[in-house]
Amino acid sequence: MLNSTDVKARSLSDLPPVQSDSLIALIGLCAADPRPEKIDVGVGVFRDGAGNTPILKVIKEAEQRLVDGQESKSYLGSAGDKKFAELLRPIVLGEHAKDERIVGVQTPGGCGALRLGFELLALVNPNARVFVGAPTWPNHPPIIKAVGLTAVDYPYYERGQGAIRFEDMLATLRTGEPGDIALLHGCCHNPTGADLSDEQWREVAKVVGERGIIPFVDIAYQGFGRGLDEDAYGLRLMLETCDQVILAQSCDKNFSVYRDRVGSLWIKSASREASETALAHVFQIAREMWSMPPDHGAAAAHIVLDDPELKARWLVELAAMRDRINAVRQRIAAADPRLAFIGRQFGMFSMLPLSREQVLKLREDKAIYMAESGRFNIVGMGDAQIDRFIAAVMDAMNG
Ligand SMILES: Cc1ncc(COP(=O)(O)O)c(C=O)c1O
Repeated sequence: MLNSTDVKARSLSDLPPVQSDSLIALIGLCAADPRPEKIDVGVGVFRDGAGNTPILKVIKEAEQRLVDGQESKSYLGSAGDKKFAELLRPIVLGEHAKDERIVGVQTPGGCGALRLGFELLALVNPNARVFVGAPTWPNHPPIIKAVGLTAVDYPYYERGQGAIRFEDMLATLRTGEPGDIALLHGCCHNPTGADLSDEQWREVAKVVGERGIIPFVDIAYQGFGRGLDEDAYGLRLMLETCDQVILAQSCDKNFSVYRDRVGSLWIKSASREASETALAHVFQIAREMWSMPPDHGAAAAHIVLDDPELKARWLVELAAMRDRINAVRQRIAAADPRLAFIGRQFGMFSMLPLSREQVLKLREDKAIYMAESGRFNIVGMGDAQIDRFIAAVMDAMNG
């Protein structure tokens, strides 16, 4: 009889529980803590001296113009806002902006660019290995796994020493084969804050070039470290050295539009034709995933970048965010020689020399929330909280 079967249909209730993202879980834990003095250095957003994440003045102004002037919300197509990508091009690519072999497209944030870039590479070569630094941003490995590529760790950072394991990194990259991929943080390394020096970038570019490895540069914090151009040194060097480069970029931090999901994907291949074919595949993949990127945040960034006066004011607001990050870094670094390395690092994150137990005790006793790895957001706290934070960390270190 066809209508009787022993095989029970699987249902949604058969799904196993999800291992939740620890950083997302931390946001929930902190939000639920009723202690008014709590400090949240877990979440990765910039906060100003007053402890807020304000909307940039130039974005507010651009949004007003958008509300007043936008006449239609009809579809833009898979490429999203093409002019946005055009305006972003010189900021990201610098002297390579004129290189016709480099094509770019708007994406839903840096995450969207990462997913799209890895989907493309999996299409090119499903057997490629992706070299990923240890440690890295926790969302990198699942994205690589989701597209079916194999991640291979390269040593990146020695926590106890506060130093990059550069020779070990190079030794692992030297085992790469043509077509393998190296995922590199463009600047402001998350979670360690330890950026390659210009000299180290040159050595990495040499090895990657010699081995025929495709560099995949993730740049989510351009302008938060040393400056817009300085932070792009490594990625531009890769563009200079290699025929094939993938670049995932985010505007969510440097325009402070996190939830609006603004980013871009850039592809360089050996010829303009090959890049255009790759881009056509990218559109097809995007169509299958989100069809088109969200418009609002990119439209606001577009208005800012297209108006010389607003653009100049954006650079000032960006510099103010960078200056705060670097000032708080220096203040924490000056507190104790064991924290001095923090003053030599860049971006919003560094890792404190604390064990998981010490991190949990800080949470329990002092209402200070950071990732179990000891990663903390340098500018997660307002100015008024910094002394208490430093004192609590020193207590924890002294044991
Ligand atoms: C290293 C790194 N890459 C990419 C991203 C993604 O940024 P977005 O919020 O634009 O998706 C982040 C965000 O935290 C990040 O830290």
